[in-house]
Amino acid sequence: MKVGVIGASGFVGGEMLRLLVSHPKVEISMVTSRQYVGEYVSRIQPSLKGFTDITFSELDYDKLSDKCDLVFTAVPHGTATEIVKALYDRGMKIIDLSADYRLHNAPDYDKWYGWQHPYPELLSKSVFGVPEIHREQIKKSQLVSCPGCMAVTSILALYPLVKKNLIDTEHIIVDSKIGSSGAGAGSLAGTHHALRSGVIRPYKPAKHRHTGEIEQELTEVAGKKIHVSMSPHAVDIVRGILCTNHTFLNNPMSEMDIWKLYREQYGNEKFVRLIRDKKGFYKFPDPKFVVGSNFCDVGFDIDEDNHRLVVLSASDNLMKGAAGSAIQNMNVMAGFDEMEGLRYSPLTPV
Ligand SMILES: NC(=O)c1ccc[n+]([C@@H]2O[C@H](COP(=O)([O-])OP(=O)(O)OC[C@H]3O[C@@H](n4cnc5c(N)ncnc54)[C@H](OP(=O)(O)O)[C@@H]3O)[C@@H](O)[C@H]2O)c1
Repeated sequence: MKVGVIGASGFVGGEMLRLLVSHPKVEISMVTSRQYVGEYVSRIQPSLKGFTDITFSELDYDKLSDKCDLVFTAVPHGTATEIVKALYDRGMKIIDLSADYRLHNAPDYDKWYGWQHPYPELLSKSVFGVPEIHREQIKKSQLVSCPGCMAVTSILALYPLVKKNLIDTEHIIVDSKIGSSGAGAGSLAGTHHALRSGVIRPYKPAKHRHTGEIEQELTEVAGKKIHVSMSPHAVDIVRGILCTNHTFLNNPMSEMDIWKLYREQYGNEKFVRLIRDKKGFYKFPDPKFVVGSNFCDVGFDIDEDNHRLVVLSASDNLMKGAAGSAIQNMNVMAGFDEMEGLRYSPLTPV
């Protein structure tokens, strides 16, 4: 399969290329950047030296449709709307990593992003790219929208509980921690090393945008409106997410009941690992042990006194949270083995 990457000079674009250069069924045909046209990719993404001698091109839709069977868009949200539309109209398969086609209801863009979606008709064509939930739709889709990094990490943790109506859906609290690569390759005053290093910084304690995606997916499976209270924090790691999802059980459940629930939902999934151990030091999910891999680790603990079930989930924001999910989605769309190009165990210690 011949693929292109738009926005290949960024962090997600770089991670896409890292995975694609070793994918046995894929050839990278075109990569774009506005700033670096004509430059070798490995000059901007130095870790790819020796893996590819491709150079950056400008964004040219006709060339992309001549050269590629499928295109990944890894550009900032708000800028993918037009790019995806142009590719879609040319009949191309697209996997978008921005937020621009994740939400199904156009008014939700106004609510969460503050702008009107220019192509509401295309939102119904886009499949939310979590194969663990939408595999059959992804297989048939021309446009797949990869989930937000914190959103997918939380959705995978909460989905089985909401699906089986086991928790109080008025009180779901998601406390997320995320590393600096989540903010992209560009620098802002607050992402400068001197101001970012050492932080545990709340950055959107209420109404974070990913809440919209989490609510959308949980509402869809519950068949009733679900409200989620989400508070993300920037922490001093480069890659990784930990979501501490606080839920309140409708009825008491044992450790075994909950274990079985997650086994039933994810027992056959290659990229969701259940982590709950009484020995050793890996007792609960921890981003330290997923970095570099496409795993989302899920575990839990029960606070009987308060009917509280704490579900913990960890992922690498650039992998399961972005490029790893995109490759997984491509594999599903193309009929490849879902693990193709993703058989990486986590990098440790890191
Ligand atoms: N970082 C994460 O952990 C993460 C996780 C999940 C999803 N995402 C999403 O993935 C997308 C990319 O994120 P990132 O972290 O890789 O950001 P990034 O490092 O800032 O990269 C953005 C890329 O988009 C290009 N670009 C910027 N404005 C553009 C425009 N108007 N038209 C075309 N290209 C443009 C930039 O390249 P040039 O300036 O060279 O053109 C750059 O290659 C975003 O939508 C982000 O929300 C990020």
